[in-house]
Amino acid sequence: MSELNNIVLKILENGKGILAADESTATMTKRLDSVNVPSTPENRLMFRETLFSSSSMKNYIGGVILYDETIRQISSKKNTIPELILNTGSLVGIKVDTGAKILAGSPYEKITEGLDGLRERLKEYYKLGAKFTKWRGVYNIDKNYPSKLSIHSNAHALARYSALVQECNMVPIVEPEVLMDGEHSAKECLEKTSEVIKRCFEELIIHKVDLKGIILKPNMILAGNKSKEKITNEEVAKLTLECLKSSVPSEVPGIAFLSGGQSEIESTENLNLISKHNTTSFIMSYSYGRALQQGALKFWSKNIEDIEGTQQIFNHRTKMNTLATQGKWSKDFEI
Ligand code: G3H
Repeated sequence: MSELNNIVLKILENGKGILAADESTATMTKRLDSVNVPSTPENRLMFRETLFSSSSMKNYIGGVILYDETIRQISSKKNTIPELILNTGSLVGIKVDTGAKILAGSPYEKITEGLDGLRERLKEYYKLGAKFTKWRGVYNIDKNYPSKLSIHSNAHALARYSALVQECNMVPIVEPEVLMDGEHSAKECLEKTSEVIKRCFEELIIHKVDLKGIILKPNMILAGNKSKEKITNEEVAKLTLECLKSSVPSEVPGIAFLSGGQSEIESTENLNLISKHNTTSFIMSYSYGRALQQGALKFWSKNIEDIEGTQQIFNHRTKMNTLATQGKWSKDFEI
C-alpha cells in the first residue's frame, strides 16, 4: 500500500470525517458577521481552537482542513495549531487554492487560481505539518452552463494541483463543486455533475495522478435551491450513488462530500442514506464546513466564554455524521 493511500485510510478510518475549517478570511468574516462577532484574528482563532480541542477530534474527525492564517497561529496553550490537531490523532490539511476568479472567455463562470508558486508553498505547508490539501473548483448550472470551457479548465487546474501535491508526498482533496444555486432539476444536476467529475478523472489520469492517493470531495445530487422540484432524501442518495458509480474510477479509496448549503440535519440524513445503499468499494464520508460548524458557531457567538457548551454542540454534530457514514444515524438521536 502506498504512503498516500495510507494517509487517505487514516483520515477516513472508523467512520471518521473531515472538518473543513478552511474558510478564507473573507468567508470567515461573513460567517462571523452573520452572528455579530467582530472578525479579528483572535476571534477566528478562538472559535477554531474551541473546535480543534474538543473531544470529538479523537473519535470522529480524521482530518482538519486549515486556512493559511490558521496553520501559522499559536493556540492559547502555546502550541501551534498543527500540533494541537496532531495531538488529537487527527491529520492536518490545508486549502492551497487562492480562490475562484472570473473565467476569461466565459465571464459568468469561475476558474480557480493558485498554481503559480504552488510547489514552493506546498513544501512550506508540509514542513508545517500538513499531510493533505484541498483545491475547490466551482461550477454553476444554468441554461448553457457549466460550459465546456469551465469544465475543461477547472479539471485541468485540479489535475495540475493534484500532481504537484502528490509530488510533495501529500494527499490532494479534489473538489469539483457543482453549486446547488438555481432553478435546475435534480436530473440536470446529475448530468452536469457526472460530466464534470468524468472530465476531472480524464485530466487526473493524463497528469499521472495516483488515484489511490486522492480523496474526491463532490456535491450530492440535489434539485437547485430555487427549483420547484422537491425530491426525497432517498432520491438524493439514489441519484448521488448513480452519479458516482458511473463517473469515479474504482481505484479511488474515499469520497468525502461537501455540504454545499444544506442544513446540518439534511446533510447528515443524506449521507446516512448514501452509506446505507452504498454497494461500491468507496469509503463514503463527509468533509463539511457549514454543516458541522453552524450550530456551534451560533451558540458560541452568544456564549463566547462557554467553551464546553460550544464543544458539546460540535461533538454531537460530528458524532451524528460519523454514525451517518456507517448508515447508523436516526432522527431520534438528534437533540
Ligand atoms: O469548499 C468547501 C468547503 O470545504 C465545504 O464547505 O460543507 O460548507 O459546503 P461546505
